[in-house]
Amino acid sequence: MTTISFTYLPGDGIGPEVGAAALHVLDAIAERFQHALDVDEHLIGGAAIDAGLKPLPAETLGSCRRSGAILLGAVGGPKWDHLKGADRPELGALLPLRKELNLYANIRPAKPHPALIDKAPLKAEYLEGVDFVVMRELTGGIYFGKKGVDNLGAYDECRYSEAEVRRIAIKAFDLAKGRKQKVTSVDKSNVLETSRLWRRVVEEVAADYPDVELDHLLVDAMTMHMLTRGQDFDVVLTENMFGDILTDEASVLCGSMGVIPSASLSDGTTGLYEPIHGSAPDIAGQGKANPLAMILSAAWMVRLSFGLEKEAAAIETAVDAALYGGHVTADLGGSLSTSEVGDWIARHVKAPHVS
Ligand code: IPM
Ligand code: MG
Repeated sequence: MTTISFTYLPGDGIGPEVGAAALHVLDAIAERFQHALDVDEHLIGGAAIDAGLKPLPAETLGSCRRSGAILLGAVGGPKWDHLKGADRPELGALLPLRKELNLYANIRPAKPHPALIDKAPLKAEYLEGVDFVVMRELTGGIYFGKKGVDNLGAYDECRYSEAEVRRIAIKAFDLAKGRKQKVTSVDKSNVLETSRLWRRVVEEVAADYPDVELDHLLVDAMTMHMLTRGQDFDVVLTENMFGDILTDEASVLCGSMGVIPSASLSDGTTGLYEPIHGSAPDIAGQGKANPLAMILSAAWMVRLSFGLEKEAAAIETAVDAALYGGHVTADLGGSLSTSEVGDWIARHVKAPHVS
């Protein structure tokens, strides 16, 4: 028996709804596999601001540090748009959480589910066979450089140390070893000094992985290649800002944002797991939100932070069955509410042969 002990941060907008569905599925996992759940729920983002706290309250950060496993819904929304800088839910909560927990490796998959291919805005031929992950550096670069406003204008400094590039490159090559053995490193080395350092260090790391093929692409070219020959990629390795942009683009290859989980990892088993979609305030509180990305994020958490492979696979199998059987929310053409999808998947987890 394992105690699945984690910090639960529902956050804003649809976060609490998709979060409740994921907790229900985790309850089912605990029941079927005889584990215990220990859920430490805390406020973050706009919900914390509304309670008179900072976007990342000290108790929230303390719980995240203690548990080392965090399941996060979403943060932010128009209600807090008037706030500036670190008072904003995203900047004041997500960025410091990434930095404080040293969550430097962000993984987002691009693998269209067969049941969703005809829902994507692109022709099926560009989606079929696509199966890559983006390994985005998450705690360095322009996001965390010195920034300011002076009498000349404003500036954001972009810095990378060799050590920062090396550790994310190692994560990418390790991942590629268990996949299709290919790393595509994306930079802007025809212009940026940080990108020239990036390329040199990635090549040094590649020398330790003779079986893994490495190629380099400039980020502007990559925006086209990703959509026109997505099948050629396996692990796409890139820096923080380019990764932010490319992962949104990659989600278009998946048919729907509502089904994509993500992990932000440190060394060891520390990780934060969240759907890649946002807080969707326009549909919050209506039971319309698709909980699949959050449920899959919970699966990634049990696999990567707790080493529970069978349990993660049970959740993924149930999500597959829901997608193939149309037991989904209206955005995917179904007629179930958020909690009904959670109930369906929880039932499937407990009794996989019944649907
Ligand atoms: C993401 C988001 C964040 C980022 C924002 C909300 C700060 O876009 O996780 O991709 O830019 O990293
Ligand atoms: Mg983004």
